[in-house]
Amino acid sequence: MERARIRVFDTTLRDGEQSPGCSMNVHEKLRLARQLDRVGVDIIEAGFPIASDGDFEAVQAIAAALRRPTIAGLARACSPDIERAWQALKGAAFPRIHVFLATSDIHLKYKLRISRQQCLEQARDSVRLAKSLCTDVEFSPEDATRTDPEFLCQVLEAVVEAGATTLNIPDTVGYTMPAEFNELIHSIRRRVRGIEGVTISAHCHNDLGLAVANSLAAIAAGARQVECTINGIGERAGNASLEEIVMAMRVRPDLHPYDTGVVSSQLFPASQLLSEITGVPVQPNKAIIGRNAFAHEAGIHQDGVLKNPLTYEIMTPQSVGVPDSKLVLGKHSGRHALSLRCEQLGYQFERRELDEIYRRFVLLADQIKNVQDHHLLQLIRESCGRSQRIPPAHVEEVTIAMAAAAGQSRISDYSSKPIALPNDFPTHELPRNSMAEHHCEQEDYLWGV
Ligand code: KIV
Ligand code: ZN
Repeated sequence: MERARIRVFDTTLRDGEQSPGCSMNVHEKLRLARQLDRVGVDIIEAGFPIASDGDFEAVQAIAAALRRPTIAGLARACSPDIERAWQALKGAAFPRIHVFLATSDIHLKYKLRISRQQCLEQARDSVRLAKSLCTDVEFSPEDATRTDPEFLCQVLEAVVEAGATTLNIPDTVGYTMPAEFNELIHSIRRRVRGIEGVTISAHCHNDLGLAVANSLAAIAAGARQVECTINGIGERAGNASLEEIVMAMRVRPDLHPYDTGVVSSQLFPASQLLSEITGVPVQPNKAIIGRNAFAHEAGIHQDGVLKNPLTYEIMTPQSVGVPDSKLVLGKHSGRHALSLRCEQLGYQFERRELDEIYRRFVLLADQIKNVQDHHLLQLIRESCGRSQRIPPAHVEEVTIAMAAAAGQSRISDYSSKPIALPNDFPTHELPRNSMAEHHCEQEDYLWGV
């Protein structure tokens, strides 16, 4: 069966940039845009040209540099914005003017101070103007999910008539719920005349943590474009996360049988680049691209993943561009992970020797959060006068994938490092505590459940 193609509209450089601390200069935007091109997004919203000269220049530079994706620029529903957007976009291979106007009564009354009738006319006239400049015009009724559905459909019908080619439905304040949003998209498809000829898009914010769920619900209802950002950055709690939407569809095609043009192995590099540019780190437990997304600390998990990654990984780290899964050596780790780590460091042990190292390891792990390679090396030295070193040729090839942080990876990184165990760590005469005694291979499996 042919699967529907979902167009990915990336707004990291526009809505994402509105996130506190995430503003970027022209050069940085261009760098990120090139990576978004490698990710394979269909549309890059490069900025809001009237907002500043910097934004104008960035849109213009991206429009000139990238010839594959559509380049969009945002404009309020008024001629100065639309004309400025077009000036910035006109050099693009595939330009798109994105016009927005709020439609909810709250926004009309308190923010815009216009009537519904004025709103409808302004939306129609501005789309008409945009269409006279550019064939590809997107319209967004801001705060759509808190707009009277009847009025929303009237506005949408008017802008379709005026030439809009994409109707984007924003959940501007992250208020809707999946079932409700799904029904809204269905009702727009039923009620708006001319809708068959246009693409419906979803644009969700994450104020209730539902942006991705709502986006998927909209796609299930017939939306064929989804607006999202790398790392989910954006106003307040952020926008729907691009990497989460794409991987949800890829991991569960049984429930979400859709294709995108995204090269998923470019997701982690894109996330890293964005963090590097903005200086805003990703939360460690962020789905798909967080530092811990493929890290396993509990013994039961490490044991399972070492036997077969399918036990605890629903996608491979490589599929999203993460170099390898990481087994973090901490107090919940088991013998299996420890012995593998020792092997990667170049040591093989008899069962009794490993028991001794493990006992010391558990005591140390109780005192420090993550046991790093240099700690382990000291333990090994303290425990065994005579080491069972694997020939160096093997060792030098080993990439240390289990270090807690990505990047501390090669054997040469630690061989000369001073070894720093906590001052009070007992390096001789280790008492046998109950936890250390408790661990045997069988219990590696139970530990950390
Ligand atoms: O959240 C929103 O409503 C927007 C529009 C400009 C599309 O970002
Ligand atoms: Zn938004």
